[in-house]
Amino acid sequence: MGKNITEEIEKLKKERNAIILAHYYQPDEIQEIADYVGDSYYLSEIARDSVENIIVFCGVKFMGESAKILSPNKTILMPSLDSGCAMADMINEGEIIEFKNKYKDAYTVCYINSSATVKAHCDVSVTSSSALDILNSIENKQILFLPDRNLGEYIAENFKEKEFILWDGCCKYHNNIKINEIYELKEKYPNSKILVHPECQKQIRDIADYIGSTAGIINYATNNDYKDYIIATEEGILYELKKKNPDKNFYIPGGSISCVDMKKTTLNNLYDTLLNMKNEVILDESVSKNALKCLENMHSLAK
Ligand code: 13P
Ligand code: SF4
Repeated sequence: MGKNITEEIEKLKKERNAIILAHYYQPDEIQEIADYVGDSYYLSEIARDSVENIIVFCGVKFMGESAKILSPNKTILMPSLDSGCAMADMINEGEIIEFKNKYKDAYTVCYINSSATVKAHCDVSVTSSSALDILNSIENKQILFLPDRNLGEYIAENFKEKEFILWDGCCKYHNNIKINEIYELKEKYPNSKILVHPECQKQIRDIADYIGSTAGIINYATNNDYKDYIIATEEGILYELKKKNPDKNFYIPGGSISCVDMKKTTLNNLYDTLLNMKNEVILDESVSKNALKCLENMHSLAK
């Protein structure tokens, strides 16, 4: 297939009246061919609102599941159905039920990086870009937050009047970013700005010039005149950062941070998915119905 594979994907996409969605951590060539590229929140809105009935979701499982929950009548395909998110898998249905049973009066907030089954037991979902706005609209004092303790801790720092009980999960890629790797870059590029995803540990967040989602980080670098940026998140984000800012420099702590599951999408499996209409996301109807409330609350409270 070689160099023509992108043309073949474009052709099939038109024939099938499908759209391709890709997260900022996807490989460059996948972001290049996608109709919409964005952070988790943006992609969830596109999945909900698109008029096309076939969505090829290039991302990880919780993203494909969220698209299906929001648009149960659309066909959601994923080029790599086995792309999970290790953090989302850090809490299962039995554990969320037990967690809630311990704190019966608490409001349950899950990061969108969680399974559909877990979402079905939660009151509202949040993303990195929407979490603070959503928490602002919640009156309950006691909040259960899962599965990311780092994002939960970051939110809690912003709502001191509330009591947060955090699940002990994390993203191994963000959690492993070392402060020394950032200091080394800062020493080399003293005028650089440090842009940090909230999945990073507190000591990294504490030295950040900006904390936000992938889209937030891209907007910050694009809307400021500084030349050098230290980017504390997954390296797929560099594609959009460099596209929008060809004259600026971006440095990843430690040289490389690559989420294995995000990189499972290839032009070949994207082509194969569209050609054979395979790898459909299928959800249990009652799980999907219960999880819908959680995502609908996210969209309405984020405004
Ligand atoms: P964003 O919502 O910032 O795109 O983050 C998604 C994610 O998986 C971060 O690891
Ligand atoms: Fe999950 Fe971390 Fe990969 Fe994001 S970077 S999808 S949180 S494993």
